[in-house]
Amino acid sequence: MKKYIVLLLVAFTSLAFGASDSAIWGKEMLPNILGYDQKESLHLGQYFTILQSTYFKPIFLGVVLGVPAVFLLHYLVIGPMVFSHDRKKIYVFTVFNRIVHAIAVIAFILIIPTGLVMMFGSTFGGGEFVRTCKEIHAISTLLFIISVVPMLFMWLRWMLPSFDDLKWMIIMGGYLSKDKKPVPAGRFNAGQKMWFWLATLGGMLMILTGAAMYFQDFKLEILAANGISQIDFLRASAIVHNILGMAVLALFLTHIYMSVFAIKGAIHSMINGYKEEEEVEILHSSFYKELKEDKKV
Ligand code: HEM
Repeated sequence: MKKYIVLLLVAFTSLAFGASDSAIWGKEMLPNILGYDQKESLHLGQYFTILQSTYFKPIFLGVVLGVPAVFLLHYLVIGPMVFSHDRKKIYVFTVFNRIVHAIAVIAFILIIPTGLVMMFGSTFGGGEFVRTCKEIHAISTLLFIISVVPMLFMWLRWMLPSFDDLKWMIIMGGYLSKDKKPVPAGRFNAGQKMWFWLATLGGMLMILTGAAMYFQDFKLEILAANGISQIDFLRASAIVHNILGMAVLALFLTHIYMSVFAIKGAIHSMINGYKEEEEVEILHSSFYKELKEDKKV
């Protein structure tokens, strides 16, 4: 009887993944899952199933639809910030910065849609299409692996918390009005710092948890030594991967809105390395002050 309940849970879990028959839990995994659940696991399968089936899919859907909807409203009600393009241009992103960033961009343009297809695998009919997306998801992760470490180190020194961050959060970055009042921020503001930490440290954790789910059948002595069965580890990986995935998705959409729509022309800085002086003066006022002190503007 117990065996059938576990079987049912596993089937339900697979369906809940959306990746269902396809992506994450291959058919060959079923006997393993049964074995682990009967013997060594912490028997947390039911909680895992509830999370996957009841919460994750609707939250992902909410993020995919809700975040762009909020930004559309922001664009229509408040509108984009427009800065003069006639003043000096300030060099902020080196060629190296831009190449590393471009690799991450290509990686995410592939990783995010394919991840969503896996999450909603059953809606996409499962099968070959979802399986192909799973492979693209894994291959494009290799591109992200190449970019994530250089990205972490090239911007780290400006991403540490500062008092400006608190002030920036209190006024919500100044995005709720179009007044050109100087916003407290250094080279990067609190919102950019959040994205940076999530994309780098969070991204690394996503790579590890994703690899655990992709390779599935591996043995880690450290897990066994600590009484953690492989199925528990895979479940924990799936949960961490999904929760971080929601946050990455939300901030990725925010990042695109900010760089492409909310600040007119901001995207150019990642193409040619230069920001408009007025943009720096208003949106990165502490950085601008430093540049002035150093007589660079
Ligand atoms: C289509 C996708 C993307 C676009 C259009 C884009 C655009 C930009 C732009 C214009 C900037 C400079 C913003 C400024 O300082 O005013 C920037 C910065 C940055 N980007 Fe991206 N980006 C994209 C994807 C990514 C991805 C996938 C990652 C990381 C995995 C990433 C990480 C960063 C970080 C950490 C910064 C510096 C902090 C910040 O400005 O938020 N970006 N991006």
